[in-house]
Amino acid sequence: MTALELRGVGRQFGALRAVDDVDLTVAAGTRHGLIGPNGAGKSTLFKLIAGTLRVSAGSVLLAGRDVTGLRESQRARLGISQTLQHSSLFLPLSVQQNVLLAAQRRHGNPGSLWPRRQAAARDRMGELLAAVGLSTRRSAPAGDLSHGERRQLEIAVALACEPSLLLLDEPAAGMSPAEGDRLVELVQALPREVTVLIVEHDLDVVFRVAESVTVLHLGQVLLTGSPSQVRESASVREAYLGTADRAELFVQGGPG
Ligand SMILES: Nc1ncnc2c1ncn2[C@@H]1O[C@H](COP(=O)(O)OP(=O)(O)OP(=O)(O)O)[C@@H](O)[C@H]1O
Ligand SMILES: [Mg+2]
Repeated sequence: MTALELRGVGRQFGALRAVDDVDLTVAAGTRHGLIGPNGAGKSTLFKLIAGTLRVSAGSVLLAGRDVTGLRESQRARLGISQTLQHSSLFLPLSVQQNVLLAAQRRHGNPGSLWPRRQAAARDRMGELLAAVGLSTRRSAPAGDLSHGERRQLEIAVALACEPSLLLLDEPAAGMSPAEGDRLVELVQALPREVTVLIVEHDLDVVFRVAESVTVLHLGQVLLTGSPSQVRESASVREAYLGTADRAELFVQGGPG
């Protein structure tokens, strides 16, 4: 089963081809990494998948269904959930309110007439906060969280929507090494019903989490392969060396 298929997807901003003729197939239940230097088009590609942006060319298929013409909200109902590179939390609301709101957007408000459903929603929220390591912070306003904690909460919010395809855009950005480790464990522990596409500059995180990796460069796919194939690729190293961006990870063997 294919969770996601992109056929010749492109997006232009004026004369700039931010995403250029991208083909990509992601098998259901896999964790797929998307890497590339700054400005490669990774976040734009995510927005084209989620429907935040419209494609200029090509088509997007979700579980075999062409969703190119569907709006973001319609795609969300079909199971796409994304965390954004720039936070979209409700900062004055508490950690648990942020998660409950997301669940309500998916399932509707359980309402006071349905105490059992309310209890189920609270149980689920408790599980999600435990999974991302925020149980003790549930009553804190989201605005009081550290940068790393906010990213953890964003993942809980995305999971509350019960996605079949989870798009994570730089989830480890600003995290401490310990928080990064927890993130890796969290993604590894996700049920296989959730297909994960992860954009990350921390290549160590990508290589630990992803079973396959696509490298974008100047809007185009440079290579799709296993983490070791990507690590050993001369053209990938060159793309990174060109920007001096984490090139050391491609020195033979790499870390770990
Ligand atoms: N709304 C927009 N209007 C015009 N240009 C844009 C827009 N969004 C992105 N771009 C441009 O498209 C290119 C790709 O941007 P994008 O944000 O997708 O890159 P990225 O790979 O996510 O980079 P980073 O690693 O820095 O997050 C960049 O040159 C960027 O300036
Ligand atoms: Mg980006």
